[in-house]
Amino acid sequence: MSQSDIQKQDAGHHLHPFTNTGALNKKGARVITRGEGVYVWDEDGQKLLDGMAGLWCVNLGYGRKELAEVAAAQMNELPYYNTFFQTTHTPAAKLAEAIASVTPGDLNHIFFAGSGSEAIDTVIRLTRHYWAIKGKPYRNILIARENAYHGSTIGGTSLGGMGGMHKQGAPLVPNIEHIRQPYWYGEGGDMSEDEFGLVCARALEDKILEVGPDNVAAFVGEPLQGAGGVIIPPATYWPEIQRICKKYDILLVADEVICGYGRTANWFGSETFGIEPDMISMAKGLSSGYLPIAAVAVGDRVANALIEHDDDFNHGYTYSGHPVSAAVALKTIEIMKEEKIVERLQEEIAPYFQKKLRETVGQHPLVGHIDSVGLVAGMALMKDKANKEAFPSDYDIGMVCRDHCFNNGLIMRATGSRMILSPPLVISKAEIDELCEKAVYCLDLTLESAKAAGAL
Ligand SMILES: Cc1ncc(COP(=O)(O)O)c(C=O)c1O
Repeated sequence: MSQSDIQKQDAGHHLHPFTNTGALNKKGARVITRGEGVYVWDEDGQKLLDGMAGLWCVNLGYGRKELAEVAAAQMNELPYYNTFFQTTHTPAAKLAEAIASVTPGDLNHIFFAGSGSEAIDTVIRLTRHYWAIKGKPYRNILIARENAYHGSTIGGTSLGGMGGMHKQGAPLVPNIEHIRQPYWYGEGGDMSEDEFGLVCARALEDKILEVGPDNVAAFVGEPLQGAGGVIIPPATYWPEIQRICKKYDILLVADEVICGYGRTANWFGSETFGIEPDMISMAKGLSSGYLPIAAVAVGDRVANALIEHDDDFNHGYTYSGHPVSAAVALKTIEIMKEEKIVERLQEEIAPYFQKKLRETVGQHPLVGHIDSVGLVAGMALMKDKANKEAFPSDYDIGMVCRDHCFNNGLIMRATGSRMILSPPLVISKAEIDELCEKAVYCLDLTLESAKAAGAL
């Protein structure tokens, strides 16, 4: 089948996520055909360095035969069985133990889901249910942040703070509140980073007092806001959030769908930012994106309440702990340990990535500021970086840059005017050099396009 045949089929029948399908159908979707290491190839044979690890998930890189073999073996052995009817199976039990062994603190119990959004729905229901068990069903308000992304189910959309999503498919789930995000470069004004971090964290206390401390179930936050543009909070932020949650006895949930499994150069972002969560939601890197699987790791406080409460938790998914996905996730964790992925990141690759990025991309006239930690980075594209002047809202600089990247062998995502990198964790130093070189070249092209369009 030629590319145009596939594009025609796709345009005829495929409704794409987060896409203006009408506009896409006119130009045709890019057809990705295979992957190896940190690269994917499209139907035209163009080789692209995947600076996004798929969608923040292919952490071990493409073409891992071990993962494919484990999946095939499990499919032959037991392709499916549920975990509802007082049954379990080897992959689910082993994976639960393996996850508990790598999560921080006392997150010793694992509830399985199929996607990050489902895991977030579990978080919403479980935090509320916990307080109901404790005799306080009125403690049912969840607090999250503006510009946070927690998925696309109605629960995930409601908990997330994306205005564009809230406008569609409303009404949203009630009893969810949002506070400001800790985006220092964009919103910090004259404040120091540390000051701003405290101000943003204290917005949580203000909100708690506004709605009444006795009505709040949990605060949910990504250790760093990924899809919101890689917004990395100031160092003062999380300790203050932690203190406020403790003060008002509010559950703290870290949504680590992106941060989990090495992205921030620790197994979990909670370790990087000093968070002691009552629950962690995870997906993506859990199976390196090879099969859909997600989980919520639950701390002893909530898990024991659930276990001691003599009743069913009426919640679960057909694919909770799916044996094939679980076998692949288990193998992913094994590979991460065997290949010392986290140690390699800490000792060598993450510092190299940070330095190289700042020395190259960071010097580009369009790049006003880089937020980065571990192997994830967000770059603010500015019209005039010396005066912190943004591009006009009618000129989509991010999309211009993203298109130049795609056409020149690099996948870099745009969130508004922020460009994002989150490459596979197995990337080598030479590949980081190549990534940075390509990024600078594409930024040069972007600059030329902006000038030609009269946006500069
Ligand atoms: C922090 C966070 N939570 C939840 C989700 C939703 O995950 P999924 O797309 O697997 O439903 C995402 C997806 O990017 C995410 O980044």
